[in-house]
Amino acid sequence: MTAAYEYETHEYDVVVVGAGGAGLRATLGMAEQGLRTACVTKVFPTRSHTVAAQGGIAASLSNMGPDHWQWHMYDTVKGSDWLGDTDAMEYLAREAPKAVYELEHYGVPFSRTEEGKIYQRPFGGHTTEFGEGPAVQRTCAAADRTGHAILHTLYGQSLKNNAEFYIEYFAIDLIMSEDGQCQGVVCWKLDDGTMHVFNAKMVVLATGGYGRAYFSATSAHTCTGDGGGMVARAGLALQDMEFVQFHPTGIYGSGCLITEGARGEGGYLTNSEGERFMERYAPQYKDLAPRDYVSRSMTMEIREGRGLGENGDHIHLNLSHLPAEALAERLPGISESARVFAGVDVTKEPIPVLPTVHYNMGGIPTNYWGEVLNPTADNPTGVVPGLMAVGEAGCASVHGANRLGSNSLIDLVVFGRAAAIRAGEVVDAKAANPVLNRASVDKAFDRFDAVRNASGAIPTADLRLEMQRTMQEDAAVFRTAKTMAEGVEKMTAIAAKMDDLKVTDRSLVWNSDLMETLELTNLMPSALATIVGAEARKESRGAHAHEDFTERDDENWRVHTVSRVEGNKVELSYRPVIVDPLTTEDEGGISLKKIAPKARTF
Ligand code: FUM
Repeated sequence: MTAAYEYETHEYDVVVVGAGGAGLRATLGMAEQGLRTACVTKVFPTRSHTVAAQGGIAASLSNMGPDHWQWHMYDTVKGSDWLGDTDAMEYLAREAPKAVYELEHYGVPFSRTEEGKIYQRPFGGHTTEFGEGPAVQRTCAAADRTGHAILHTLYGQSLKNNAEFYIEYFAIDLIMSEDGQCQGVVCWKLDDGTMHVFNAKMVVLATGGYGRAYFSATSAHTCTGDGGGMVARAGLALQDMEFVQFHPTGIYGSGCLITEGARGEGGYLTNSEGERFMERYAPQYKDLAPRDYVSRSMTMEIREGRGLGENGDHIHLNLSHLPAEALAERLPGISESARVFAGVDVTKEPIPVLPTVHYNMGGIPTNYWGEVLNPTADNPTGVVPGLMAVGEAGCASVHGANRLGSNSLIDLVVFGRAAAIRAGEVVDAKAANPVLNRASVDKAFDRFDAVRNASGAIPTADLRLEMQRTMQEDAAVFRTAKTMAEGVEKMTAIAAKMDDLKVTDRSLVWNSDLMETLELTNLMPSALATIVGAEARKESRGAHAHEDFTERDDENWRVHTVSRVEGNKVELSYRPVIVDPLTTEDEGGISLKKIAPKARTF
């Protein structure tokens, strides 16, 4: 029997789920074009995880020295370890300066140079001359609170353009037609327990990553892969989930982020011998090598007995040689974090740090317009009508196997903006909304009701912890065939226990027990797809460092992993990487020779 919940129906041209940088940039772009736009979000917009983004946003503005979009594109291709889609990477690098100047004009309070230009700092893996020249200052910053500045500005602009916000609404499931078109989303309003059905011509998932599948992450506790969960339940695919980024400098213990901008401003890492060990691993770019490289180097130092502390289990990040005024002006946020979370005065002492889960390169597969793909063998780039995904929830794929620092904020705004441009072309504001598939709405309420009344034996927090510890151990910086096989076995058993969950609070108003259980139903498919995809990939590429297959294998593995999750089963298939750029060299594009795969050294 179908669960009986009364609900209110809302009709819009576009419904954006999530109000982080990508969600707000999409919302703003849709509303600016006069599309009736709603943004549904489980947290207040300016509390979305983008608020925690520190170091900056990459764009080749050339404010601090020579730069070029082609150099940015090259760095992104190499950063991705040749797994990114080349058309999307060209789009990102080309559009980045435009997207940043738009932010400036919307009112983002960037830090400034003496001449009043946007201040830019160096970040890992960003170079000049197609990786032959010195590091470039490409990362545009608002001190070390860049995400905060962007989020507040985009929220204000969205309100100014009459976007409507539904705040503290939790999205339960997508509404899909019989023939696979997305028609809207079913939501639960957290503060009064009412239910809501949003009917739209286009749904945009901007729900962020799933960092909380791991035990220690820089991600907010709200980063529970809600979009990926909804997509998996709709029978759609996830892509490249095995590629999980560890940020080199999470504060030891708390996991709190210390921006890569700290190394951009001149900070450096040392081991227990006081050695600046990155000089050995990456002679050219040292502490400014990409994150996968630096995280692996730190882990090797610890493994070889050169870690710090009683247990020899962390590394030092040194900033005290920098002028106190520079720290106060450029890095005030992390100076405070170091004091609060590590008890360290950065002007005097090093910060204890450890690689910490930070970002999911994988996600919901899309093209560079943000349209969700449903890849099949016959049609690897077929689009799901009515559905887009942007930001960390999506996988365009510009980051491939490893993302460069500050390419995330630019991904949010470039592809949030692209989704709005595309929606302007494909959404007919004058047309009627799709007639809702009643069966799909009922299915969402039935699932919600079953979770609400779950009366098994395992509390949600216990099962979540089991998942987080397993992922932390078995899908780590370094992976072996043995640990991953064990991880698959353990995660399959853990996911099976979802049927035995116990929810103790049956109410509908501010029921955090129920919300966390719904979040766990979203985390679980992502975690499973991650470990299964990792176990299957017999090579090392970017963030996937396989100790039994230490080389990259382009012949067999330059492919995207496509995973479909049902219950505790994951079905894998593969789709080709897009190797052609948007423009040819004759049209002013990059030379194919420049971006041909080669050994990735720094
Ligand atoms: O280190 C940071 O400031 C993080 C930036 C990023 O993930 O892009």
